[in-house]
Amino acid sequence: MLVVVLAVGVFSSPAAAAASCPQLEGIVRTEVRAALQREIALAAGLLRIFFHDCFPQGCDASVLLKTSGKTEQTMGPNTTLQPRALQLIEDIRAKVHAACGATVSCTDITALATREAVVASGGPTYAVSLGQLDSLAPASATDVNALPSPFTASVAQLLRAFRGRGLADAADLVALSGAHTIGRAICGFFQDRTANPGNDAFVRKLKADCDTDPNRVQQLDVVTPDAFDNGYYRALNASQGVFTSDMALLRDPTTAPIVRQFALSKDAFFAQFAKSMAKLGSVPRKPAGNVGEIRRSCFRTNAGGETLLLHGGVCLSFFDLTDHCSLLSALLSYMSERSMAQNQGLQQSALQLIESIRDAVHRRCGATVSCADILAVATAHAVNQAGGPVIPIALGRRDSLEPAPGWAVATLPRPDADVTTLINAFGSKGLGGVDLVALSGAHTVGKARCSAFADRTRSPNDAFTTGLAQACATDANRLQELDVISPERFDNAYFVDLRNRQGVLTSDQGLANDGRTSWLVNGFADNQAWFFGQFAASMEKMSKLTPASGSGGGEIRRNCFSRNSPGIIIQHATDDLHASA
Ligand code: HEM
Repeated sequence: MLVVVLAVGVFSSPAAAAASCPQLEGIVRTEVRAALQREIALAAGLLRIFFHDCFPQGCDASVLLKTSGKTEQTMGPNTTLQPRALQLIEDIRAKVHAACGATVSCTDITALATREAVVASGGPTYAVSLGQLDSLAPASATDVNALPSPFTASVAQLLRAFRGRGLADAADLVALSGAHTIGRAICGFFQDRTANPGNDAFVRKLKADCDTDPNRVQQLDVVTPDAFDNGYYRALNASQGVFTSDMALLRDPTTAPIVRQFALSKDAFFAQFAKSMAKLGSVPRKPAGNVGEIRRSCFRTNAGGETLLLHGGVCLSFFDLTDHCSLLSALLSYMSERSMAQNQGLQQSALQLIESIRDAVHRRCGATVSCADILAVATAHAVNQAGGPVIPIALGRRDSLEPAPGWAVATLPRPDADVTTLINAFGSKGLGGVDLVALSGAHTVGKARCSAFADRTRSPNDAFTTGLAQACATDANRLQELDVISPERFDNAYFVDLRNRQGVLTSDQGLANDGRTSWLVNGFADNQAWFFGQFAASMEKMSKLTPASGSGGGEIRRNCFSRNSPGIIIQHATDDLHASA
């Protein structure tokens, strides 16, 4: 199942970027150049981070994540990424977001900063495709470990690894390895060579240097270590490549001519490097597509690792939580399982869903939002996502300390209730006849077990009830759709059903048969906009039955399924919550 979290303001091309954040390239240039003035080695640090970000699962800044648990930075190939280069990317992000708001992803900033570092070191410029969102999770260990090892002697193996990422030409492998023209490495990465130096004077020198100082860093281009030029190939050509994987390029007949060509012509190298870097920037992403967010810190996903929750076929994404935790704005998008909220078999999942949202919100915002508010907002969004109206929701409820007493639960109307009973039950809560009919319209996405309408199927009196009786006789556990016209859509078809005498529950069909309510049934059947407007108003009214905040006890539960330990009773919801109500 594919889920997309929309990020507002992300741009899709350099032109769009320039329009949306004109300062972007200027900030990146200033910051990278200032950083390289202080420490030239950061250029290589950025370039390697870009490679290690893009190669495993496409460029998505997943390598930057530092949240607890297993992140890419703790995985083998990444443990020696330069910490100050990682920090530089985050520092640039902070400056860009301060100037333009959160419109530019860490992925885009990494790409732009890398290109700036290459150019500042003397290398070529190349196209960078902007508008890439930041990942919501780290790449898998398998994908990270697909990064090639420096101990690889087989060019065929290196080519295979690169081909798997859409870098199909031998020239891509050779040109991108040319990034080592500004690189350095610790002794461990070429110990396979220094262990058996033989008669090779260059390797003997490497070994002697490492023996003297095992913590030293070795320049990978021994000709011009800090300049981005073709010195790396000239060194290779003189058999002075540092890694086994570097030397392999000279030894293999497929790649050797390219090495020699680049050693002779810096222009040829630059032209190919520019092409191959653009390709590296376009390695296909996992999950497929531009899925993610614009992180507010490159080191963390926006909602503490749970920006996105997948639950029982439902996708949740959270907006605005970073800046306004008080404004709970959880969006529920119904994906494949529209019946989530109504399906008896899935009700357990729906309950769990509320708890999952609470967990994500509390992690991000602290315990500032009650389960009651989350339930109200989730319901409103579910209605809207199923095609229904937008329902305004007041926030600031607190969660009960006890279950409702049995007598209060018993005031919920029964499905075999007659209209008078329904009117009285709703009236006792301050809800009128219009509210009763409009709210019953929720059955447009409802389902019921056979036992809920057994009073009708016991003595069927028309084709519709006969059909229901037969279906239930075949399968007593089946779930009957309450809107037989368009059960999956939140629309006014339920009222058309009632007018057609195809209401399933006695409490439904009664509304069409009683003069006090039938005019509303007909009106809503004819006019969906009227139904939607009234439904939203009645839902809002119902959502205020329990006073939002106000007097009395209650708490913000740390777990929707159980009250907090005795003594942790929160008497006052935060002012912010009231302000947003
Ligand atoms: C062909 C496969 C490659 C292998 C086996 C390889 C391996 C390595 C290793 C082991 C290091 C040393 C890291 C350390 O000591 O901390 C390194 C450094 C580096 N690699 Fe590669 N690499 C490869 C391709 C690339 C590519 C395609 C790029 C970029 C386009 C790249 C950019 C760099 C840079 C810039 C450094 C220096 C990092 C620094 O000085 O902090 N490498 N590489």
